[in-house]
Formats: sequence, structure tokens, C-alpha cells
Amino acid sequence: MLTDLAAWHALEAHKKEMEETSIKSLFEIDPKRFKSFHIRTDGLLFDYSKHRASLKTIELLCNLAKECGLEKRRQDMLDGKEINESEQRAVLHMALRGSTDPNLVVDGENIAEFVGGVQAQIKRISEEIRNNPKITDVVNIGIGGSDLGPRMCYKALIPLGEGPNLHFISNIDGRSLEKRLQPLNPENTLLIVASKTFTTMETLGNATDAREWLLTKLKEEDLHDHIVAVTNNVEKAMSFGVDEQHILPLRDWIGGRYSVWGAVGLAIAVAFGYEVFEELLKGARLADEHFMSAPFEKNIPVLMAMLGIWYRNFWDYPAHAILPYSHDFRDFPRFLQQMDMESNGKSVGLNGERLPYATGPIIFGEAGTNAQHAFMQLLHQSEQIIPSDFLISANAYHDLPDHHTHLISNALAQSKALMEGQSHEDDLQRNFPGNRPSSTFMMRYPDAQRLGMLIAFYEHKVFTQGVVWGINSFDQWGVELGKTIAKDLYVTMNQEGLKDGGDSSTSGLMNAFSTHCEHAA
Ligand code: F6P
Repeated sequence: MLTDLAAWHALEAHKKEMEETSIKSLFEIDPKRFKSFHIRTDGLLFDYSKHRASLKTIELLCNLAKECGLEKRRQDMLDGKEINESEQRAVLHMALRGSTDPNLVVDGENIAEFVGGVQAQIKRISEEIRNNPKITDVVNIGIGGSDLGPRMCYKALIPLGEGPNLHFISNIDGRSLEKRLQPLNPENTLLIVASKTFTTMETLGNATDAREWLLTKLKEEDLHDHIVAVTNNVEKAMSFGVDEQHILPLRDWIGGRYSVWGAVGLAIAVAFGYEVFEELLKGARLADEHFMSAPFEKNIPVLMAMLGIWYRNFWDYPAHAILPYSHDFRDFPRFLQQMDMESNGKSVGLNGERLPYATGPIIFGEAGTNAQHAFMQLLHQSEQIIPSDFLISANAYHDLPDHHTHLISNALAQSKALMEGQSHEDDLQRNFPGNRPSSTFMMRYPDAQRLGMLIAFYEHKVFTQGVVWGINSFDQWGVELGKTIAKDLYVTMNQEGLKDGGDSSTSGLMNAFSTHCEHAA
């Protein structure tokens, strides 16, 4: 049990010592603290000096990671062991970026050959689309992991784009589909239907209607040039009418929220060219090398993870804010929400028993400086302390340098204000307690390689925390119940007469819906 480990007890005792030490005072004790509390690697700088952590804290946290068997679990993941135990699956998103052994075989298949084949398909199909003057617009239809990754990367890298326009439809809300498709012409549009299972209600509902929309201008036999599918369920995609040549495969060992590196990333290659997609993979590969080889004390994702555990379990901080100071990176927090909360939002351990300690924090965020004018008040003065990650870039892709300096000075001002606070003992409403921790990532350029590194670092952070908490970060049983109930309620809502939702609130709301909704049964 985690809480019985020697390193855990040492951290409990150490926390009591640290209660008396402010982050500000750590800088006073060691004015050169930044020097020993930052890491530079491949055009990315990670500053973790503004934390309630001394060198001893880092040492104890790394001891905990060691005692939890992180080295072995990390190797097990790389070796294709079935670390997703509840679904008996390997977890091999690292293979998608070429970080695993080229001889690795899983379920009788050579993984590197499979990955090479898919990459060749991504290259071929993306070039086909980019070189087809008739295709001006590409619509990615998917949800969760089949949407958030390519959507976020597309927005983040938009200054590099010169391919067709990309659009994303995820929600089953008809407004989303109508709004996206209405200005487009079916003759110039290609759909990418991305769904690992090809059974997801939202994606199939949207894809079916989008297919109908294509048919308003195209003939059935022309559809194969206008639909591409990304899926593990080739049969279903074919019966939906997708040409076999236009189906890019997934595998069980690619988790939805870790799938942007494979065929789900097709939209990225379409928008920016295959070379940019390769750069993204290269960045992730660099992050993998770092995660696999850097000593824990200098290992960026291990430090991110263990500082998170320090705050979640020893200080009881409930949430974690992600603050990209970049308009283009504005979807990064949303993407991380799924990656982190769907992975580690669990309270039962690998042994099937309820855990007596907290796990994944609430992840939220927004681009700066917008965040400052929305929720930063709470981060500065609430009783709740919320550690934050600031993401900044030394360079920007626009011609307004003064804007960029303003933007970055604001990011630095926020992390400084959170750390130092400001004493106003005579007017407590103006008192800033400070002592609020944050990390800062600085990219040299907000390019595909740096983006790939960042995503992979967060993936490894989430993995490391899952190992320490003793949970399976790769299943998501919690989202199933809602889906099952929605299916049943949908049937009931389409039946004539009084509706029974099984409880008076659901029944009352259903009946009010059918009274007032113009199309209801
Ligand atoms: O939200 C639940 C989930 O299963 C995610 O894990 C996944 O990314 C998403 O649904 C979409 O699933 P699919 O790619 O199978 O349509």
C-alpha cells in the first residue's frame, strides 16, 4: 500500500517542516535557485523553481517514485506488456513515434511494421488530399480522443498551415454540424470519420448526416473520394460505405486519448503536410528518450508528476491549472483535461480495492491573458490553492513583437504574484497570501517539435502519477454508464404517451420535454 511506504512516511514528516517555509523564502535562502531548479532540453526549458519544494523534497519525491516501481512499469510499457490490465491491452503510443524496439511483436504483429505501414498511408492519403485542387475543406468527425488531439494541434500550428481548411465536428448538437457544413460545398469537401470503435453515437450520428449532405451534390459512386475513415473496426467502416483503400487502421494498444500520433493525426498531416506531422512525432520521441533515460531528479515528466502528487496527497490541493500564454495553444487545457482526468480520475486501485488517498486533480485552464480576466482571482486569493503550469514561447509567429512582450510579461507577472503575494495586513481584502506554486515551460518556438515534446511530457506525467497511485490510467469505465442510460432514455423518449424515466425527476423532465419540444413523440 502506497501510504505504508517508507518514502511516503518521510514525505509526511517533511511536509510538516515545509509548512514553515514559503516559496519566497526558498529564493532568499538560495538566490540562485533557478539554476538548480530548471532543465533545458531540445529547445524547451522547464522551470520548477516556484514550488514549495527544496532539494530534499525532490529527493524524497523521487524516492517515492522509485519505491513505487516506476522504472519497471516504465519499461513494461515500452516492452508492450499488458499494463492496461482491466482490458488486457498493451499501451504503445510510444511505438507510434518510433520509440519502441523495432522487433516488438504484440498479438502476433510486428509493431514497427504496422506503424511504418500506417505512416506510409498517412503520407499517401494526406498528399492525395493536399494535391487534389477540388478539395478545399476537410471535416474531421470524431469525439474525445478522436477529436481533441488533432483539433488542438491544428489550432496550435495554424501559422504553419497552407493546406485545405480544416473543420471539426464532435458534439451531437445539430447546431455544430449545421454551422460547419452550411458554408461548405460537398463537391469540395472531404470527411475524415475518426472513431476507434466506430460505434460512438455522436460520431456515427454526425457522420451519417454529413454523408447525406455529401449526397445532396455527389453521386453514391463518388463518395469514396470524399470519405476517409480512421478506425479499429474496418468492417463497420466499410459497411458505412468507406472504400477499403481509405481506411486507416488503429489497434487495441492505442488508447483514444493517446492516439494523435497515429492515424488519428491524419488531419494534422492534411493541414500542414506530412513533414510537419513527422516533426510532431520527432518531438515526442525526444521526450520519450528523456523520460526513459534522465535520472528522476532531472526528469521533466517525473518531476511534473511527483510535484503533482506532493500537492494532491500531502497538501490536499484539489485542482491544477493549465495556462498557455498563446492564442494558438488555447485548446491545450481542454486536450489535457481528457488526457489527465479520463486517465487518472479513479478511486479504485489495480487490486480492485478502494483507495484511501486522492488521485487525479481537476484540470482546467484557459489561454492567458484571458484567464487573468476570468478565474485568476480565485488562484490569487481563494482559500483553495491551485498549482499552475504556465506555457510560454520565446518567439511568436506574428509581426507584433510588442504584443508578445506584453503577453510574456503578464505570464511572468502572474507566476511571480502567485508566489510572492503582497502583504496588506490593514486591509485583508487587498492581501495576497502568495506561496502559490507554479511551473513554467518556455518553448524556443511554438513549433511542431516543441508541441510534440510537450504533449508527450504530459502523457508521461499522467502515466507516472498513475503508477504511484496504483491505478490503471488506460481504461475509462466511468464514461460507460452515462452512455448506456442515454441509449435507454432515447428509446423511451421516442415512445408515445407518458414517459417513465425510473425516477420522478427524470420522468418529470422527459414529460416536460415531450410537451414543449415541437418534434417530440
Ligand atoms: O469518452 C469516452 C471515449 O471512449 C474516449 O475514451 C474516446 O476517446 C472517445 O470515447 C471516442 O471513442 P471512439 O474513438 O471509439 O469513437
